[in-house]
Amino acid sequence: MTAMTVNERPVDFAMDPDTPLLWALRDAANLTGTKYGCGVGDCGACMVLVDGEALRSCLVTIGEAEGRSITTIEGLSRDRSHPVQQAMVAEQAIQCGFCTPGIVISAAALLRRDSNPSDAAIREAIPNLCRCGVYPRLLAAIGRAGRVRRREEVLNALPAPGISGEEAARTVPALGSGATEEETAR
Ligand code: FES
Ligand code: FES
Repeated sequence: MTAMTVNERPVDFAMDPDTPLLWALRDAANLTGTKYGCGVGDCGACMVLVDGEALRSCLVTIGEAEGRSITTIEGLSRDRSHPVQQAMVAEQAIQCGFCTPGIVISAAALLRRDSNPSDAAIREAIPNLCRCGVYPRLLAAIGRAGRVRRREEVLNALPAPGISGEEAARTVPALGSGATEEETAR
């Protein structure tokens, strides 16, 4: 058994300790918001927070993650209310969306360290690859999320079509329903 905390809940993975954290999260914990892109550390689609630091989960084994606190996109906020999520919607910084969870995680980690990052700091902190090329809009979105984080702007972007934020909070997978990163930071 390899024990860690995932989205504020204790989890024991009965898997080989050399299993990449990405596989454990997606295949065992059913937290499929974390995406598999390249599997070799290039794309950032698999980014999760490990003790608050954005790391590529394809490069971290569950043995290395033992005892640590993991936050996936499902645990970042239960109702899509995290400032980065809201700003990404408001600035239309999403196209196909495959890279989006990883980018949101990278941006959330950045804003926890620095709520007023320069464009250069944003470029440095977001190594994620986006095949759709949303990079210019990302700068605007992350800058705007910083303003929300600093309480200079209130943003209530419309949720994505499909189900409401409240409905999303009710249907989030079990491991994603603990206290959120944003709630913890408040
Ligand atoms: S899947 Fe991990 S960096 Fe691409
Ligand atoms: S929005 Fe399509 S890969 Fe980034």
